[in-house]
Amino acid sequence: MKLFGNLKVIDNEIHLGKYSMSYLKEKYGTPLYIVDEDFFRENIRKFKNSFKSKKFNTNILYASKALLNKYIANVVCEEDISIDAVSGGEIYTILNSRMSADKIYFHGNNKLKKELEFAVDSGVGKIVIDNTSEINKLEAILKEKKKKQKVLIRLNPGIDAHTHEYITTSKNDSKFGLSIFSDDIFDIIERVANSKYFELLGFHAHIGSQVFREESFFSEAEEMINFIKKVSDKGIRIEELNLGGGFGVYYTSEDSPFELEGFLKRYIKKIEELLEENNLKLKTLTIEPGRSLISNAGHTLYTAEIIKKTYGGKNFIFIDGSMNDNIRPALYGAKYEASIANKFNDNLEEVYTIAGKCCESGDIIIRDIMLPKVEEEDLILVSSTGAYNYSMSSNYNRIERPAMIFVSDEIKVAVKRETYEDLMRNDL
Ligand SMILES: Cc1ncc(COP(=O)(O)O)c(C=O)c1O
Repeated sequence: MKLFGNLKVIDNEIHLGKYSMSYLKEKYGTPLYIVDEDFFRENIRKFKNSFKSKKFNTNILYASKALLNKYIANVVCEEDISIDAVSGGEIYTILNSRMSADKIYFHGNNKLKKELEFAVDSGVGKIVIDNTSEINKLEAILKEKKKKQKVLIRLNPGIDAHTHEYITTSKNDSKFGLSIFSDDIFDIIERVANSKYFELLGFHAHIGSQVFREESFFSEAEEMINFIKKVSDKGIRIEELNLGGGFGVYYTSEDSPFELEGFLKRYIKKIEELLEENNLKLKTLTIEPGRSLISNAGHTLYTAEIIKKTYGGKNFIFIDGSMNDNIRPALYGAKYEASIANKFNDNLEEVYTIAGKCCESGDIIIRDIMLPKVEEEDLILVSSTGAYNYSMSSNYNRIERPAMIFVSDEIKVAVKRETYEDLMRNDL
């Protein structure tokens, strides 16, 4: 297992900073979401230092869908970047942190009327319009409230990001955004640009998640800038281009992410060149990484409860967690690395399948992983679970969600462990 950030091994046991996994288990219990706070902050700073230009402002948004609670929103606020949200609930959570509403970009292919109203009433900075129904809906709300809203339009540049079908977002039949190739696209843009209720700042695109080819991002930038040229030629000024997130990360040795800092510099250079070729000027270039900021900074600690060998010869480790706290392997075959945290350097001896406690055969976190001999009560650390684990978690089988701690010099509990009462709180 690759040790990211401040993970290290002392006396054969994984530690995060100065805290051993046994200490964390004893103090906070398992399953436990553990965030390496300093590493998360370091990742944000890397983005800020590499994604900058002398020709335009750069703006980095944390894609909060990757992992959101009040604590992380405050960290993002302290690191002085912006944030995106895709639901009223995400906006509400962010507003309950120190983050100011004007730093929020509101995305989503199907924003409900009540969510749009909430966003407008809360003073959300920018709303990213996805479709024509939304233009009408939002315009009616703004008219009623006598307000003007800064907006971007989400466009689909038709790029194949070569990633899993469930996390690709920019093929021509994607559910997101308006195609730059559709016949009425310029009419739609003109309608927004000419509305007295909107201030059209620019365009947004996001080609997918866990994308490893630099070329996909370059093609996206090229398509979008060529398109901005066409729109500018029609007399509509575009000042902001938001190219989304999706930068691929390491989960297992099958993933080969590009070196981020080098890539970001090349990305900026490419965009500067494309703008120059098209004789265009942008005021702001925005990106919105989620996974590449938080994924490798989060890990999940479990206890091995039962070791079971099947008649067919499969060696299972049943952990105290499940697909409830990590749905990604069941949802789209995501892969992870793990170690026995208290036996890190022991010889790898057996092939195990790490399975959860849900009544689903698909409730498997890792298939066929070589580990040292596992015994009950051993600690299993699954790494790089920071993104889309907690945020996709559920109470299936009425299982309580784990607690989440942020570890730096000190430890902060960001989310309490759920109780049986929590599971019942809406039952009448
Ligand atoms: C619009 C938008 N922006 C940003 C992201 C963040 O993607 P990632 O976490 O892969 O960086 C997503 C993820 O699905 C998204 O839909």
